[in-house]
Amino acid sequence: MTQSQPIALVSGATRGIGRAIAQDLAQKGVKVLLGARNLQAGQKVAVEISTSEIQVEAVELDTTHQNTIDNLSALIAEKYGRLDILVNNAGISLDFYPDLSVREKLSRTLETNVIGTAALTDAMIPLLEKSQHGRIVNVSSVLASFTSREQADWIYKDVAMPTYQASKAALNSLTLGPVRA
Ligand SMILES: NC(=O)c1ccc[n+]([C@@H]2O[C@H](COP(=O)([O-])OP(=O)(O)OC[C@H]3O[C@@H](n4cnc5c(N)ncnc54)[C@H](OP(=O)(O)O)[C@@H]3O)[C@@H](O)[C@H]2O)c1
Repeated sequence: MTQSQPIALVSGATRGIGRAIAQDLAQKGVKVLLGARNLQAGQKVAVEISTSEIQVEAVELDTTHQNTIDNLSALIAEKYGRLDILVNNAGISLDFYPDLSVREKLSRTLETNVIGTAALTDAMIPLLEKSQHGRIVNVSSVLASFTSREQADWIYKDVAMPTYQASKAALNSLTLGPVRA
């Protein structure tokens, strides 16, 4: 890759929106590091979405496991020396798991959607600071909008995902910053 080629890390990119973001970035000429809890699954997707110009690289990342975050920041520092774009996409919703208690749903959801995202961001800041145009993109949800929820004709007014909504509202607060105290 060339020095001018932007480098992006996308968390939770083995499927869904993360995979689509990774594919789109690769097609736009961005070197994509594809975050995957299961590295083998990630490598399979990386092959599928690589282009003739961009070889997408799968990297092990479980945002609830700090060791994978630390290993990944060390790998990026050693191999690339910087990060230009961090896409915090990894997220879960457990509201439709009736066997889980509210405590379990909320703590697990916050652990991934908020704590994991904040920890990954914190670890990547030194690398983003090495970029001339560092960017952090947090994938939130319209369900967390306080303004929309107050509107009687809101399209999602009957959608109730309380623990998920709360996690994305917390993520929105983190997004507004400041990133560090
Ligand atoms: N789908 C929607 O309608 C919608 C709407 C608004 C916002 N969003 C948000 O968009 C993002 C992606 O949603 P999606 O629908 O594409 O979800 P998805 O299909 O369920 O995919 C979630 C991705 O996150 C990964 N992941 C889960 N926990 C993780 C963790 N602890 N560490 C690292 N990766 C983890 C999964 O990895 P594995 O493959 O290993 O499970 C998977 O790659 C989420 O933040 C979600 O809240 C979704």
